[in-house]
Amino acid sequence: MIYVTVSYTCHYQPLCQVTHKCGQQVKDPVCLKSSTKHPFRLSLSVCQRDLTPCRFLGNRTQAVMQRALIGRSALLAQQAAVLDAPLFSRNAPVLQRLDRSMSSVTVPPPACLLRPLEAPLRYLFGPGPSNVPPRVLAAGGRPIIGHLHPEMYGIMNDIKKGIQYAFQTENKMTISMSGSGHAAMECAVFNAVEPGESVLVAVNGIWGERVAEIAERMGANVHKMVKAPGGYFTNKEIEQAVEKHKPVLFFLTHGESSAGLCHPMDGIGDICRKHNCLFLVDTVASLGAAPIYMDKQSKTPDNFPVLLLYTNLCEVFSVSCCFPGIDILYTGSQKALNAPPGTAPISFNERACQKMFNRKTKPVSYLFDMTHLSNYWGCDGKPARAYHHTGPVSGFFALRESLAILAETGLEESWRKHKEVSGYLQRGLEDLGLKLFIPERVSITSPQINDFIEKKIEIQGQANCKYCASRDFHIAGFETSLRNHHCYP
Ligand SMILES: Cc1ncc(COP(=O)(O)O)c(C=O)c1O
Repeated sequence: MIYVTVSYTCHYQPLCQVTHKCGQQVKDPVCLKSSTKHPFRLSLSVCQRDLTPCRFLGNRTQAVMQRALIGRSALLAQQAAVLDAPLFSRNAPVLQRLDRSMSSVTVPPPACLLRPLEAPLRYLFGPGPSNVPPRVLAAGGRPIIGHLHPEMYGIMNDIKKGIQYAFQTENKMTISMSGSGHAAMECAVFNAVEPGESVLVAVNGIWGERVAEIAERMGANVHKMVKAPGGYFTNKEIEQAVEKHKPVLFFLTHGESSAGLCHPMDGIGDICRKHNCLFLVDTVASLGAAPIYMDKQSKTPDNFPVLLLYTNLCEVFSVSCCFPGIDILYTGSQKALNAPPGTAPISFNERACQKMFNRKTKPVSYLFDMTHLSNYWGCDGKPARAYHHTGPVSGFFALRESLAILAETGLEESWRKHKEVSGYLQRGLEDLGLKLFIPERVSITSPQINDFIEKKIEIQGQANCKYCASRDFHIAGFETSLRNHHCYP
């Protein structure tokens, strides 16, 4: 037998709670007889799965109750039926009819949500997200705790330490954004720049373009240095542009995923310091795969060719890395860090803090205001951490775990592994007869797309779409005719 428990409430005062047998006729409970006021607010709970709505016989409460109870009962029954597909299909027409005629809601529950979630297991070779190790997935699946619980603060502190290690920095102003790489990008620009100030952006792919647009939107005076996708900027060109435009911020992408270029960094931090400009670097596509040392200007011993195998076959990096001091550095969780998308580490050094905490105007975004975020992350030295927003608890669990894996593996080993697989992939591409988009090994190894397509068509025989010859490949392109093309098997 199925039961429905009904709480009867009059003018927000609980009157009584009565359990009715479903499928049977019920009368008003005694408690209602003493009450003269309407309407009743009903709350219901179903004790067992039920596909049979209660039927009410009634007097004064009949209309209200019948409508609420039957409508609600039908909804609950539908939910229950999701777990019991054969039963549902038998009763679906009845339930739909009931829902439409009896429910107070006019928009029915979407049929797609009454089906189980489908998320296929798929190998991800695109620029990101990348496949997430089971250990990181399991961390993300742990029970939720409060975003202001002491344990959560502990986990956020661990994340901070993990980011400091990954960035090779001792900056105390190191946090993770609640959001994707774009959140970190906007946070950097919104906090470091005030409206009317000059910003210089190196554009050699889409990420420079994106930052230029973000800075324009918040009212900065944006100057672009433009090269064809995959082009390098020499230090001389950068210095000339900095001298000319006198920016407060210079932006450069380290791993320009749209072209496959990993830009050398040596000497640029010095130029920025000399001209009193902050140096902002995007490492969304390269952190963990290629060496980066936020704090110190040092050269890695040799050219350090790295190919990011987690990226797709069109985005193959080999990197020569020399890193000056960087004032603001950010990344994303979903690429070489192998965590789910949705969190984005970012760090600011003293110079950046000086600028952003001595502003005349408030940053345009409340959510991304570092005066609040620094407190939320316990970076401002204040004894209490206050509520600012509800952080993505599961995302932080997963990010912590991915940073733990990086700490256990060791940064140098992580770079070495990427270098090893890069060599493997490069040899494989060459064996296929593919040319690289940017030929110098020290900088880039994206295969040229026309060769790639022709080769694939040759290899696979039949085409499923304009660009992709088979179900076995996925081409994601940002440039020229492939911009925004994503073809999944
Ligand atoms: C170099 C680079 N910067 C920024 C982003 C933006 O990151 P998100 O998509 O996480 O917002 C990406 C994403 O592909 C990227 O490759």
